[in-house]
Amino acid sequence: MDAREMKIKAAEAALTHVEDGMRLGIGTGSTAEEFVRLLAEKVAGGLRVEGVPTSERTARLCVELGVPLKSLDELPELDLTIDGADEVDGKLRLIKGGGGALLREKIVAGASQRMIVIADETKVVETLGAFKLPIEVNPFGLVATRIAIEKVAARLGLSGAIALRMSGADTFMTDGGHYILDASFGRIPDADALASNLNDIPGVVEHGLFINMASLAIIAGPAGARTLTA
Ligand code: A5P
Repeated sequence: MDAREMKIKAAEAALTHVEDGMRLGIGTGSTAEEFVRLLAEKVAGGLRVEGVPTSERTARLCVELGVPLKSLDELPELDLTIDGADEVDGKLRLIKGGGGALLREKIVAGASQRMIVIADETKVVETLGAFKLPIEVNPFGLVATRIAIEKVAARLGLSGAIALRMSGADTFMTDGGHYILDASFGRIPDADALASNLNDIPGVVEHGLFINMASLAIIAGPAGARTLTA
C-alpha cells in the first residue's frame, strides 16, 4: 500500500464517524483532502452535512467538489472536526501546521465537540519534535518574538534553529496574514510546558502543539487502519 492509499484508508475510516446532519470542521493537508473527496461522494449521494473549512485551500476544494460550506461565525458550534497531523504521540498530542493552517485548524477544532485525526503510520512518534514545530507569529516584532521563543526553549532545555518559513523568494504568509517560524527543537520531552510557555509570548499568535484536542486518531498502515485513544 503506498502513502496515498494509506491516507485514503484513514479517511474512509473517519467517514464512518460522520452522520447525517452533522456540522463538520474540515481539516487541511493531503490526508484531509482525501477525506474531502470521499465526503463529496457521500454528499452527492444524499448525505446532508455543513462544513467549516480550516483553510482557503480546503475551502476551494470543497467548493469544487460540492461540499456545502459555512463560515465559523455562521456555524460556531461544530459536532466533529476531521484533520490530519504532522506528528501524533501516544497521548494524542499533535504537531500540526506543516501546511501553515495551524491557527484556523486550532480555532475550528476548539469549536468542535470532537476532533478525529487521520494519518498514516509515519506520523506516529514516541516523543514529539522530530517534525519542526510551526509557530505562527505576528510580523510586527518578528526578531523580538524569535528571541523570546529561544529564551523559553532554553529554559526548557531545548535548542535548535528557528527559521522563518519561506515560499520561494517570499516570506510565507498564513491565511490570517501572519508569518511562521519553524523550530527545529528535536525531541520535546515536555510538550505541555512548551505549549503553555509559547502561549505567554505576546508576538506568538498560535503554535502547532495541539494538546488535549484530539479524542481519536485513525492511523493507517500497510495492514489497514487502527485507532488510538488518549
Ligand atoms: C496543515 O497546516 C497541517 O496541520 C496538516 O494537517 C498536516 O501538515 C498534515 O498534512 P498531510 O496530511 O499533508 O501530511
